[in-house]
This record gives sequence, C-alpha cells and structure tokens, in this order.
Amino acid sequence: MEFSIKSGSPEKQRTACVVLGVFEPRKLSSAAEVVDQAANQHLSDILRRGDMEGKAGTCLLLHGVPGVEADRVLLVGLGKEREFREKEYRTALSTAVRQLNETGGFDGTIYLTELPVKKRDVAWRVRQAAMIVQDSLYRFDRLKSKKSEVRRPLRKLTFCVSRRNELAPAEQALAQGLAMASGVELAKDLGNLPGNFCTPTYLANQAGELAKAYGMTVDVLDRSDMEKLGMNTLLSVARGSHEPPKFIVLRHAGGAPDAKPIVLVGKGITFDSGGISLKPGPEMDEMKFDMCGAASVLGTLKAAALMKLPLNVIGVIPATENMPGGSATKPGDVITSMSGQTIEILNTDAEGRLILCDALTYVERFEPECVVDIATLTGACVIALGHVTTGLLANNETVARELLDAGNEAHDRAWQLPLFDDYQEQLKSNFADMANIGGRPAGTITAACFLSRFAEKFAWAHLDIAGTAWRSGKEKGATGRPVPLLSHFLIERAQRTGKKPARRKAA
Ligand code: BES
Ligand code: MN
Ligand code: ZN
Repeated sequence: MEFSIKSGSPEKQRTACVVLGVFEPRKLSSAAEVVDQAANQHLSDILRRGDMEGKAGTCLLLHGVPGVEADRVLLVGLGKEREFREKEYRTALSTAVRQLNETGGFDGTIYLTELPVKKRDVAWRVRQAAMIVQDSLYRFDRLKSKKSEVRRPLRKLTFCVSRRNELAPAEQALAQGLAMASGVELAKDLGNLPGNFCTPTYLANQAGELAKAYGMTVDVLDRSDMEKLGMNTLLSVARGSHEPPKFIVLRHAGGAPDAKPIVLVGKGITFDSGGISLKPGPEMDEMKFDMCGAASVLGTLKAAALMKLPLNVIGVIPATENMPGGSATKPGDVITSMSGQTIEILNTDAEGRLILCDALTYVERFEPECVVDIATLTGACVIALGHVTTGLLANNETVARELLDAGNEAHDRAWQLPLFDDYQEQLKSNFADMANIGGRPAGTITAACFLSRFAEKFAWAHLDIAGTAWRSGKEKGATGRPVPLLSHFLIERAQRTGKKPARRKAA
C-alpha cells in the first residue's frame, strides 16, 4: 500500500473515495461542510432524511455526489463532538478503512486526520492513522490453501491535513507510523506462526534476515556456546525438547560508537507445554504465542532501523521450547544459573523467568543504559489487568515513567505494579538460593521479584504482556503489542540524546 499526505479542498480531490466525518446527531465535520456547500447541500439533505445519525462505528457510502470530483463519498460516524477523543478517532479510522477496502475503488483520500483530538497534534493523528490502517488490513492466511481475496484491494491512501504548515510534521509522522506498523506486522506474523514453523532456529533465521535487510548485525549462540557461558537455567528449560535452543543477539548501531546501548530482552518460548508440570489441554495451542516477547523485540528493532533512530539498541532473545521428555528438568531439581545463584525448580511451567534470568546476566557485558524485558510471563497478569493493559515492574522509576508515557502516547498502555522487597520472601527455598515460584498471591509481582535478582547491575524494567500479546476466541491472533509502546520509548530517547540531557525529575 502506498501512502501520502496532502492539504487541499475535499470537493476537488480526484480519487475513488473521499472520507469525511459526521458527528452525532447529524452534524457535518468542517471538511464535510465544505463538500456540502460545493454539492448544493446534498450531504445535509441526506442527514435530514435520517439516513445517518453519526453514531460511532457507522458509515454511509454515497455515489455521484454533485459538485465533487471524487467517484464516491464515504461518511463516517464520529459520535458526539464533545466526546470525540482518542478512542473515537481510532474507531472512525478503522471503520473507514474496512469500508474502503470493500468498495470497488483502488484509492481513498481521508479527511478524518484533520479532526481535532483533545491534547493530540497532527503528528499523533497521522502516526495513529497509519498504524490503524495497517492493523485493520492485516490478514494471516499464509497457512491456508486458499488465500482470502479482496476483490479490488486498496492500493493508495492519502491523509489530509488542514494547513500547509502541517505537511512537514505529518510527513515525518507518516514515516514513523509506517515503520512502527511494519514492526507490528512482523511481530504479529511471528506470533501467529505455529510452533512447528516458528522454532528457535526459525527465530534466529528471521533475526539474520532482518540484519541483512536493515543493516543490523546478528550473533546466534547455540547450545554449546550457552554451555560454555554457564547458561544452565536456560538450558534446563531446553532439556525436554528435540528442538535446539538459540540465543539471539541483534544490534542496531544507530548511535555514537561510545553511546551506551538500550537493551531489549524478549522471552522466546516457541511453545510452552509446561514441561513436566504439564499444562491442562484446553487452549494449550495458545502457548505458541509464548514467544511474543521475542517477536516484539524483533518488531521494535525493525521499526528502529526503518526510522534510522540515532541510538544503539540491542535485542536479546533466549529461545527454546518448553517440553516434557525423558531428559526434561523435574520439579525439585536445583540448577546453578549463569549468575552463580542457585534455583530450585518447583514448577517447570514457570520457565519464562528461567530463560530470562540468564539473558539478564548475559547483557551485563553491554554496560547498558537500561534494560527492558518483554515476556508473556504470568497468567496472574491476565487476572490482574485483563487483555487491555500490560503489566510493568521496574527497579528504576525514571525508566518506568518513560515506558508508561510511551504507552499512553502510542495507545498501547501499561500499568505499574509494586516491586516491594516484602514480596521477595515468597521465593524462599529450603534447598537453593531461591525457588522459581512464589505461590498464588501476587504471581506477577513474585515473577518480577525473581527477575530483579538478576538485574541489580543496571536500570531495568519488565513488561508482562501475558494478557496483551494476543487475543483469544473468534478473533484469535497476535496483536503486535507492545511494539508501539517500545517504539515510542525509543523515539523519545532518541530525541533526548539528540538534544540536551534529560530535564525530567528522577523520582
Ligand atoms: N507462558 C506462561 C504464562 C501465561 C499463561 C501467559 C497463560 C498467558 C496465558 C508461563 O510460562 C506460565 O506458565 N506461568 C505460570 C507460572 C506459575 C507456574 C507460577 C502461570 O502463570 O500459571
Ligand atoms: Mn509456562
Ligand atoms: Zn511460558
């Protein structure tokens, strides 16, 4: 799909379809007003006849509107003007795109990007628009023998801005939005691809492809490298599987050579059966999504490379299956992690923290500016925050605040949970330095407490995406979250290093 930015009168656009907003009840947006005058009140006549109220999520397609160059006019309901906010803006765009995709035209010119959204500027509106469009058009049909065909697929979309001096910021925002959308798409594809395709080896190859295509560098460690490094907890998870584990390091070197890197660590369990602590059968297929943290790291690095962010970013992915088998780790086994700390494995289904802890120890060598890990870590997080909000825990309030802000900006939101020392007690073991589970209460927090013991040497934050990385049920599929949050986090960091040091108050 091709995208462009334009500023110009809606009635003069030579396009298959002009997209205009209508507020509830029956109030034309300003671009729609302009068309209405050129069309001799054609639009207001239609509204008066009661064909459209302007309710959010509705639309009305018109052909042959007089005085208008375009073949069609699509009216999109926006809801009440006073209540028109981010959510309504997003709904309007996805409604418009889905409808456009079903008309016969190849292109569309969208005026919804001119609508004022409280506290948001034109750059935000265009960035969101690009991402929403790509999100609404996403299909995963590569494993179907008959591809779902759109009769005449959309080829070109134009977003309009109301003033000429908005063209430049809108162009830049479009490029950013498309970069992020492309990262989201990659994360969705990898997430949706089942475990028999998306193995640790496949993830490593994907990282290699990304490196080649976008000028990044990649290192892939295999089992023997990991043995030499003493990554025993990671290897203890891989023991039950026939698939070889991989440890992937992908670098985007956009910053000064001596600038400390931002490190993103993604959980890459390509299938989580639970191991010997086997999971129950229903919905076990969804554990193919247990590598969505890894997918979000690859997606974010792709976006960072496309945006040419002047930062050094390192993506680190411990990747393995978690399977039962004759040599699988057993409950009660004690393992010495790469850090030297010993761990009693009381439940082999708490495997995410076991692969992440060695990855966190490994990344010490980069002397990171900060480390963010992303993991589908706990079912408890789904209970706490549902499928709306990502869980955030951190040992550094500045990084935590930046991530929360980035989530709000990207509409990919997170919420912080406490990492009080008091919770650490739940990890006590009679046989090792710690147990790998902390019992039922506060499962998301005790998982993060476990990780925090391996993140003492740097500023660190943890994103638990168990509830947000994919949708279940009829709409089952990966969401690509939190690529938008992470991308915004990096954009902000890049702007900051480009200018003067942070003026933010450290909490
Ligand atoms: N990958 C799961 C977490 C998960 C479960 C994410 C369901 C999304 C939906 C993780 O490896 C896991 O199994 N965690 C256990 C930890 C427990 C044994 C302490 C859990 O949450 O049940
Ligand atoms: Mn598990
Ligand atoms: Zn898991």
